[in-house]
Formats: sequence, structure tokens, C-alpha cells
Amino acid sequence: MRTHNMKAIILAGGQGSRLFPATFAVSKQLLPIYDKPMIYYPLSVVMLADIREVLLISTPRDIGQYQLLLGDGSQWGLSVTYCVQEHPGGLAQAYLLGEQFIGNDDVCLVLGDNVFYGMGMSSLLAQAREYLRHEEGGVICAYPVSDATSFGVVEFDAVGEVLSLEEKPAHPRSRFAVPGLYFHDHSVCAVAKSIKPSARGELEITAVNNEFLRQGRLKAINLGRGMAWLDTGTPTGLLNASQFVEAVQSRQGLYIACLEEIAYNKGWIDREALLRLGDMMKATEYGQYVLSLGVRA
Ligand code: DAU
Repeated sequence: MRTHNMKAIILAGGQGSRLFPATFAVSKQLLPIYDKPMIYYPLSVVMLADIREVLLISTPRDIGQYQLLLGDGSQWGLSVTYCVQEHPGGLAQAYLLGEQFIGNDDVCLVLGDNVFYGMGMSSLLAQAREYLRHEEGGVICAYPVSDATSFGVVEFDAVGEVLSLEEKPAHPRSRFAVPGLYFHDHSVCAVAKSIKPSARGELEITAVNNEFLRQGRLKAINLGRGMAWLDTGTPTGLLNASQFVEAVQSRQGLYIACLEEIAYNKGWIDREALLRLGDMMKATEYGQYVLSLGVRA
């Protein structure tokens, strides 16, 4: 029986080889984007989607670091549990490792190195959840990029239905990349079990979504140009992402991916808990920002 409750899996494994030597000893998704660890950004997306049960998957080497950082999640009104991925066997492995966790619920998979920011984020997340409330299947996102060859690529027909989906095509059929944010009902676990590893030996998320497409159960939501989907794959991408976050935060005086703020606004933690968290970080601008949220109220 489907429940329509939605849980989230954050995938934070992999070698981070494109960032060597920075990631020789540290998980890529723990590197800072300006003032906070990269993992805060996808976790903020999960929270904005009103999801409170999270499974974090990482490597045997790194899982302990995530436990240190995020604990059981209760400081933000969340439940965070952990799972080890022994070898990076592909993104779709998350559904095999997370099968018990997912149970009969819907699931949002977000890649720990995907950073999103923009006005429409909360309504987009609500749209994806709303779709799955009425339909069975999967929801992916589409984001226009100048070079789509290093991503999953989605092609639309004239009325916005998904026509095709390809993983890193040499000649993309559209300029719409598929970001690392996916929503499915729990049948995704069975689908993930049914697909075969790709030529590079991985269980590809694109193969999973292609199966949903074949079954006529895949919808794509266009993120549009107002949304920022930042690259964290290279040292330059990381630097640019940090500069973007710094520019927005200092200009607006509003923080991107401040987990305490989201938890407080959603009523998952009270003012006292907010101030306690802020106090622990009062030496930093981030901490001062958290403290100021409690005063503003
Ligand atoms: O970022 C969006 C893209 O992510 C999508 O457009 C592609 O369709 C999708 O395949 C994926 O492409 P990447 O080549 O960027 O995936 P990558 O192998 O770099 O893995 C993405 C993140 O997931 C990375 O931070 C490491 C982590 N990961 C990866 C694998 C293969 C794991 O935690 N476990 C894994 O087994």
C-alpha cells in the first residue's frame, strides 16, 4: 500500500577524483561552499520539500564524518540515518541500499554535490510532491545548460512530455540537463533491481528513469532560467559556487541553506533550540545570523 509520505536519500559517496588532491582524505560533499559544508545545500532542499526522514549514504571511509556533522538530525527536527555504500556502483544503487528505509513511501533522491538556489525552489518541490500524490511514477527536473554532454539529457515534445532520456550523449538532443534531484514512488526499488549495469559498470539513474518513461510514468519539471543549479565538479566550479553564495548572502542579508532557519520557519524547532544552535557558532557570521533569527521574531 502506498502511503504518500515522502522520505529522502542523500547520496554522498564516490571518490571525488575530479577534485584530487583536495579529496584525497576528505569527502567531496564535506568541502565548504563558502561558509558551510556542501552537504548542507542538498539537505536544505530536502527540508524545503517538507521531508523529515533522511537516509545519508556514503563511503566506508567517510560515513563517520557525516555522523559527526549531522548526528541524528534532531537538532533540526529531522531523523537522519546512515548507510554505507561499499563501492561506487552507480546512483541507482541508492534504491537498493535504501529499500528497507523507503518501504511503502515515496522517495526523493538528491545528489550530495548538487547545489540549487532560487525563488521557485519551494514551489517546484511542492509541484513534484503534488504530482506523486495523484500519480504513480517518477519526476525528474530539467535545466537548460550551454553544454549538456556531461549530464543526463532530457528531450521534450511540443506539449512538454518527455520524449527521450540519455546519459552523457556525445550529441545531445536538447539543451536540457537532468540535475541530481529525483522523485519516485516506492516501485523505484523494483525498477532499480531490474536494470543492468551500463558500459562503465554502474547502475545508472538514467536507466531507472528510462524504465519509468517506457512505462509512461515519467514527468519532467522545467526548473527554468530563474533557478541557479551550480557546478561543484571542478576547483573553478567550487570557487564560483562559493562566490555566488557570498554575493547573494552579503547583498540580501539572507542566507542560502541555513538549516537552522528552515527548521525554525517550519516550526520543527522552537526559538530556544534555535538560539542554542546559534550560540554554539556565535564566533562566525553564520552563527550571528542564526542568533538574529531568534531576535527578529
Ligand atoms: O549532477 C547531475 C548528474 O549526475 C546527472 O545529470 C547524470 O544523469 C547523473 O548520472 C550524474 O552524473 P555524474 O557523472 O555527475 O555522476 P557522478 O558519477 O559524478 O556521481 C554524482 C555524485 O554521486 C558524486 O558526488 C558522487 C556520488 N556517487 C556517485 C556514484 C557513481 C555516489 O555516492 N555513489 C556512486 O556510486
